[in-house]
Amino acid sequence: MDALDPPRLHALLGRSLLVTHDWTTDDLDTLLAVAARFEQLDRAGTRLDLLPGQLAYAMFFDNSTRTKSAWAGAAARLGMHPIIVDGSSTQVAHGETAEETGAMLGMNAHALGVRHDLILGEGNAFMRDVQRGIDTYLAATGDARSVPVVNLQCDVDHPTQSLADLLWLREHFGGSVAGRRITMSWAYSPSYAKPLSVPQGIVSLLTRFGAHVTLAHPPGYELLPQPMAWAAEGAADSGGSLRITHDMDDAFVGAEAVYPKSWGPHALMHERVAANRAGDTSAMRDIEQRALARNVEHRSWICDERRMALTADALYLHCLPADIGAEVTPAVMDRFRVEVGREANKKLYVIMALLAVAKVPELAVALSGGVR
Ligand code: CP
Repeated sequence: MDALDPPRLHALLGRSLLVTHDWTTDDLDTLLAVAARFEQLDRAGTRLDLLPGQLAYAMFFDNSTRTKSAWAGAAARLGMHPIIVDGSSTQVAHGETAEETGAMLGMNAHALGVRHDLILGEGNAFMRDVQRGIDTYLAATGDARSVPVVNLQCDVDHPTQSLADLLWLREHFGGSVAGRRITMSWAYSPSYAKPLSVPQGIVSLLTRFGAHVTLAHPPGYELLPQPMAWAAEGAADSGGSLRITHDMDDAFVGAEAVYPKSWGPHALMHERVAANRAGDTSAMRDIEQRALARNVEHRSWICDERRMALTADALYLHCLPADIGAEVTPAVMDRFRVEVGREANKKLYVIMALLAVAKVPELAVALSGGVR
């Protein structure tokens, strides 16, 4: 069956996306086919205002440049009104629960995006509680609207990023990542202890589509067990593979795409959970300093031209922002500046697709020729 056939599109009506693992590979193929079609129509200047007058509300509990812009751009192209608020300015900061917050936002909004990525064990759980709050309220009041929740990065996954990356990799490889050797590598960062969700999202998604994924990191920078288990299962089901190495050179040899980026040390990311729960800002600062000191021990983990020469003429990926001079040399970044921009731009179309598949019953008709 074609990815854009009406029954496959219909199966996605009302769906939230909290981790890619919740969706089947058929669901994800359909979503990405919609995203690719939207990109094509948008570039041709076709109007795509399929959801006029609807509110696309998003809450960010962490900084963002690209994802905020992609949310706003996606909503605007669909004719929605995007509103983006700083999560720390909401009453969540005063103890309002995620379920209460979901009910209060969902009674007005038509879609809700959330970024909550800094503390392990919290972000994805928050999003699931928000979704429960929305769904419970709508059911109790007989409101037939569906208000999908879109994960704009949590502690477990960054699904709009990994799906944008998959869309970009498919375009680069002429349609499929199956059989391709793709390296997700830790890289040195002096700026901050970054979330684990990008590498977790990448390894758990690409393995499901037949890629041969190598994960490289120094000892002590392990990812969470659950997304690693998803990656192992995905590789076994798809004919792909997952290999782990502690040697960045080894990870680059023969790779066809490389994704070198930093994340925080495993033990300290866990230590941060208790300090955050206790509201101990001094402990949080101390943990951050120790994480950065740990990172310095691995400053040789940089994507440079020597390592790129070990690859099979690999495509360089980064979710951005990159620490230039630490994660990647200026020369490599300059060489791939347009490519990482195109990679980033895919998120706009992934978010458009997520909003449209969840909310437009006759999407197949609209996709065949644009709105009008
Ligand atoms: N890659 C990414 O999510 O970028 P932002 O943090 O700027 O949204």
